Amino acid sequence: MKTVEHFIEKFVPENYNIFLDINRQAKTFSGNVAISGEALDSVISFHQKDLTVTSVLLDNQNLEFTIDNDNEAVHVELPETGIMTLVVEFSGKITDNMTGIYPSYYTVDGVKKEVISTQFESHFAREAFPCIDEPEAKATFDLSIKFDQTEGEIVLSNMPEVDAERRKETGLWTFDTTPRMSSYLLAFAIGDLQGKTAKTKNGTEVGVFSTKAHALKALDFSLDIAVRVIDFYEEYFGVKYPIPLSYHVALPDFSAGAMENWGLVTYREVYLLVDENSTVKSRQSVALVVAHELAHQWFGNLVTMKWWDDLWLNESFANMMEYVSVDAIEPSWNIFEDFQTGGLPLALKRDATDGVQSAHVEVKHPDEINTLFDPAIVYAKGSRLMHMLRRWLGDDDFRAGLKIYFEKHQYSNTIGRDLWDALSEASGKDVAAFMDAWLEQPGYPVVTAEVVDDTLVLSQKQFFIGESVDENRIWPIPLNSNWKGLPDTLTEARLEIPNYSKLASENDGAFRLNTENTAHYITNYKGDLLDTVLEQLTELDAVSKLQIIQERRLLAESGEISYAELVPLLTKLSDETSYLVAEAISQVVEGLDIFLEEGSQAQAQFKALISRLMQKNYDRLGFEPKAGESDEDEMVRQNTISLMLYADNEDAVTKAEAIFHQHKDNIEAIPASIRMSVLANQIKHAETEELVSLYLDTYVKTNDGNFKRQLASALSNTKENATVERVLAELKNKDVVKPQDLAMSWYRPFLDKPFSQGAFWTWARENWDWIKATLGGDMSFDKFVIYPANSFKTTERLEEYKAFFEPQLNDMAISRNITMGIKEISARLDLISTSKVAVEEALAAVK
Ligand code: BES
Ligand code: ZN
Repeated sequence: MKTVEHFIEKFVPENYNIFLDINRQAKTFSGNVAISGEALDSVISFHQKDLTVTSVLLDNQNLEFTIDNDNEAVHVELPETGIMTLVVEFSGKITDNMTGIYPSYYTVDGVKKEVISTQFESHFAREAFPCIDEPEAKATFDLSIKFDQTEGEIVLSNMPEVDAERRKETGLWTFDTTPRMSSYLLAFAIGDLQGKTAKTKNGTEVGVFSTKAHALKALDFSLDIAVRVIDFYEEYFGVKYPIPLSYHVALPDFSAGAMENWGLVTYREVYLLVDENSTVKSRQSVALVVAHELAHQWFGNLVTMKWWDDLWLNESFANMMEYVSVDAIEPSWNIFEDFQTGGLPLALKRDATDGVQSAHVEVKHPDEINTLFDPAIVYAKGSRLMHMLRRWLGDDDFRAGLKIYFEKHQYSNTIGRDLWDALSEASGKDVAAFMDAWLEQPGYPVVTAEVVDDTLVLSQKQFFIGESVDENRIWPIPLNSNWKGLPDTLTEARLEIPNYSKLASENDGAFRLNTENTAHYITNYKGDLLDTVLEQLTELDAVSKLQIIQERRLLAESGEISYAELVPLLTKLSDETSYLVAEAISQVVEGLDIFLEEGSQAQAQFKALISRLMQKNYDRLGFEPKAGESDEDEMVRQNTISLMLYADNEDAVTKAEAIFHQHKDNIEAIPASIRMSVLANQIKHAETEELVSLYLDTYVKTNDGNFKRQLASALSNTKENATVERVLAELKNKDVVKPQDLAMSWYRPFLDKPFSQGAFWTWARENWDWIKATLGGDMSFDKFVIYPANSFKTTERLEEYKAFFEPQLNDMAISRNITMGIKEISARLDLISTSKVAVEEALAAVK
């Protein structure tokens, strides 16, 4: 592991007064920064990356300095230590890698345009100006910017503009001094932007912005959410939003999903803009992302981790709060269901693979952050742990602890322990003792519950899918049972509770653990306990149904139970109307699909079963959205139609074709919730060259990011080599496929389909150098290692995967994912060889 010196140990910054002159034409910038602070040593260092430093002045005297590119630094020799102001002159280049200062490209009415903006997290402020680019080095920032401005263009930054009158004469944009904050939170955006503003109850100005390629009304939804979420957090945290404005800007090119710069949050367009024809899901995700970034304005911005090893704390917390806040402002959405069906299965799958990282990991060098930044762990597992903790403490103590934490540490830095201390102070419970095992250990436990000779036996062991070494890890598990008379926590490997029949007589319903599914473990019910749970399955609440199905699926993936058991479980679900169960069915279908060969009898039987299962919802909901229906109905319809088409249900196929024809001159107008299914169905059943051209042309023309994703995904259903070739030929054409969308929108769906898998896999291997050069520093680079591992299911592909990736094991950015990828594919191969026959028999036995 690379280690890195912390520059704050030699110079403590207080204020940066930054001037930047940006030349978009030449793709360069130049500037100067007056850095005030205290030097503790006579040789100090600032971070800089790819900057040309021309001078360093102290009291107008030139100082000696050396550029040290290996350490991304400039070292400066000082005549004295103490409080001082240094002035550094520098210049740099604007490049397309979506970090530091970078351009976004878009087209309005056929005219190509650019927005210039920033992405400084985790350590890219150093690409824009020399600074101590460490989260602990909090300082205030004064920013002024000049650029080759044309009519109507504006600049946004963290703070309100000052001296607007002067700017009208000089063209110099100046912003008010920021609060004390870390360098990674500074931001600006320059361009021909449009926006809307509103005020929170407390008078904070909230603004939402986008390029003019979008309708202004596409901003209404997020503006309303942002205002209400800030009102909620102020009340919930008991701490006022700390700065005068809260701006949000959607950028055409963006590496991550969104970024919480203090007062100027930046987004991928799909996470801020809502098109007129949008799905419930996409609106929910906008709300969640806005709420996530706003949670950081307190947790992350006001109080910041001392070093990057505690980044999980920022992200897990924000990922939990996004659900708490959206649930509070829109209770009818039942937004926790989104976590149960989205983040949770990801975490449970990934965290079951041996070799996974723990939530808290050491980070010696910030370059490691991208590599350690496993979303399934840092976000999904982390937030599940936070939900678990919140339930364990109760919301009142949780909030009281947060208030203590914010008040004590505002404008300063913390480590995880500081949060546990604040929560302990509020609750009187030993939070660190409870959380440490969950955070520092990888993986999670399975609790086996069985009755032996009238004794209820609960035992825990680490749950694995695939090859593993058991290290006898133990967790303090909140049992959260629906029965009374059990201890709150299982702290031992094994617990025996005598007199089971008495316990049973004092409680109602099937014995259950982990109610509401908030604690990070799964349960393996055995014998009578299992029989009773399954007998009562259809009477349980929807979360429990989903939970039991998810748990049985995971147990099947691990080989703990037979995969064939999932088939009779599925058949119990034909009367279910909830979204959670519709999602559960979709997930099991995805799981069972790996056993089925194209055109086989088993596949036909399976499709017939799915068609029967979904018939009731299909009859109930129909194909087209009904005015005034509930959001849940729309979401269930989306699953239903997609499953019916997967099952080749004739009625569904015919209806989908009819809807396509009805809208063929304007396919964007197909109702968004069924658009994806309709577009895919058309490619499956009526693919022509013209149809492919229509999709590709529409992809380039439309500004609706969700629609783009649907078009790409629909195209992946092709059965024509010519189409595969045509798509492959566009992947490196940035005017068609933006690098930010390559992995998720294109590579993944095509790699997932047997027909195009080989060609896409070959393409990736042949173009590896280009992928690396284009996306090497990007958040999506490791997807090119992860996606094949998610899809491959033959020995041949496993061998190819190994042959290609094993020689790259020393590349820190992908090494863990390669090892885990090999395990994942091997586990799938094992599963197929052990369970395929049993699954086929179970399908044949369905009546
Ligand atoms: N701070 C992150 C983005 C980030 C993390 C940038 C690490 C650079 C390094 C931001 O708050 C975030 O979590 N974004 C998510 C979207 C979120 C709503 C789940 C992302 O980008 O995936
Ligand atoms: Zn975040």
